[in-house]
Amino acid sequence: MGNLGAIDEGRRPYRPYDSIKRRTSGVQMSLIAALNNLQSQRGYLTEKDLRDLALERRVPLYAVEAVVSFYPHFRTSPPPESRVAVCRDMACHLAGSDGLCSTLEQLLAGQDAEVGTVSCLGRCESAPAVAINDVPLDGSDVDRIVTVANRPETAAEHAIAVGTRRWALDPYESEADRYGVIRRLRGGEALDVIATLNASGLAGCGGAAFPTGRKWQLVAQQEERTKYVICNADESEPGTFKDRVIINDLPHLILEGMMIAARSIGAAKGYVFIRHEYEAERERLAAEIESAQKVGHLDDSFDVEIFTSPGGYILGEETALLECMEDRRGEPRNKPPFPGQAGLHGKPTLINNVETFAAATAILHRGASWWQSAGVEGCRGLKFISVSGDVERADVYLIPMGTTVQQLIEMAGGVKDGKPLKAFAPGGASSNFLPADMAATPMDFEHLAKAGSMLGSGALFVVAEGRDMLELGANVLRFFRNESCGKCVPCRVGSEKAHRMLEDTLAHGGKRAQLELLEELSDTMHQTSICGLGQVALGPVLSVVKHFSEDVAKHVSDWESDGATERRRE
Ligand SMILES: Cc1cc2nc3c(=O)[nH]c(=O)nc-3n(C[C@H](O)[C@H](O)[C@H](O)COP(=O)(O)O)c2cc1C
Ligand code: SF4
Ligand code: FES
Repeated sequence: MGNLGAIDEGRRPYRPYDSIKRRTSGVQMSLIAALNNLQSQRGYLTEKDLRDLALERRVPLYAVEAVVSFYPHFRTSPPPESRVAVCRDMACHLAGSDGLCSTLEQLLAGQDAEVGTVSCLGRCESAPAVAINDVPLDGSDVDRIVTVANRPETAAEHAIAVGTRRWALDPYESEADRYGVIRRLRGGEALDVIATLNASGLAGCGGAAFPTGRKWQLVAQQEERTKYVICNADESEPGTFKDRVIINDLPHLILEGMMIAARSIGAAKGYVFIRHEYEAERERLAAEIESAQKVGHLDDSFDVEIFTSPGGYILGEETALLECMEDRRGEPRNKPPFPGQAGLHGKPTLINNVETFAAATAILHRGASWWQSAGVEGCRGLKFISVSGDVERADVYLIPMGTTVQQLIEMAGGVKDGKPLKAFAPGGASSNFLPADMAATPMDFEHLAKAGSMLGSGALFVVAEGRDMLELGANVLRFFRNESCGKCVPCRVGSEKAHRMLEDTLAHGGKRAQLELLEELSDTMHQTSICGLGQVALGPVLSVVKHFSEDVAKHVSDWESDGATERRRE
């Protein structure tokens, strides 16, 4: 039988559960943790590993295989010396990742290296993003990629350098001031946490904008004694990387937010669910947890563990995340019940995004009225936005909510190479594209929804004049097709059919009737998909059809003949 605990010296042990203070020691390791430990021994899982694990766990072999086959992180064949993963999603696509992939395949031919494609690595500002043996690198320097691929043990020396910045969200001037809210609460101050969050109007920053105070209240009202707090740090949507920066720069605000939440809802256990590509950020959080324990900010009343995700965009969906943490395939659950009623192990569970916890701490320190007055144009609060694509300084920006798209593009140095703006997507891959003449729209939930798109988790993707929008729409759709978990037939089959149809149109030309079919398919997927992925998958492509008639006409011979675009615009 394989040694489930032993780990090769040279390899970094993969630790799905990274507990600083293991109150759970003695409890059997999760199946996903055990699989990861096994994989870390020789880089892949053998059939014997799986059989031994099934025997040890007293579960059928198919149950273990079902988990292994779902997560892209698990390998069942020996890995090459060098695994080169190239992202080909929106930002990287614009930065030439398709060409980079072919170039690397040629340059590394005959070597013990595997050049493969991968979904968004959360490094869209360094597009085209590449990872070698899971270490993120800037793909614009091909020579360096080849050098590292030949000597992968040096990858860490070439990793994208990361500094830390001070942000206006942080209410603490110095380290000694940190954890001020939790100290005040412990000191007996009568701060009504939930009422303050409700008064501030803070909305969840993970995409759905659910009112945070109301969510905390709902979980607090549950009568179960065991409850959980989970910080969702899975961030995997193309164009989205602000959580990575927040974890790096403001881990104390996230941790304090989780501690306050736990106290407010009555939870003793918390988890941070983080994508495995964010190894440096995992370490940063682990260090913060350790230091908060040493200083005594984090006490026996609350235990926090870091759970490293075995990969896949769908795991960011809150119920898929729970399935994963419960050792199953990460397929979303039907709702209701919502996680706040029956979440992890059936217990009430508060799930919030990284930024939501950080903002909650700042609001509780400075007061609800500070947050309300922090926005502009009648909008509330501050917002971290990932800015990527055809822009001079792709990066994360903290803006007053209500800042216009145009102003934000100017903050980011303008459109790349001084070109005119053609289009933008204000909320990452799942948000609809809007044309340049809508760039005066304020970045906030209501204004962008009225304009026909959405803020989502806050990811402005900039497209310069000269780009083919139908091609870009197909790129976004490919991401959703690849990341569909396959549970709902309309999403699994519909995203594949729609993508094939678009690829065919791009390669050989198409007819208007085909694009009209996409609208029907989108309606069906919207009505019948369990989760947001299937519901919005065709939205970006349809927004291209709606707003970028000229690009559609390039590929669809009978497109403009009946003025369909004009009618759609009405
Ligand atoms: C396909 C899909 C992926 C998601 N990915 C994330 C994610 O990476 N991070 C996140 O916080 N929320 C993500 N969400 C939203 C979560 O389900 C959930 O609404 C959120 O974590 C709640 O936190 P909030 O109220 O603070 O926004 C995703 C939703 C869907 C449908
Ligand atoms: S909509 Fe798609 S991603 Fe979501 S549960 Fe259904 S198949 Fe999975
Ligand atoms: S890293 Fe390529 S799109 Fe995000």
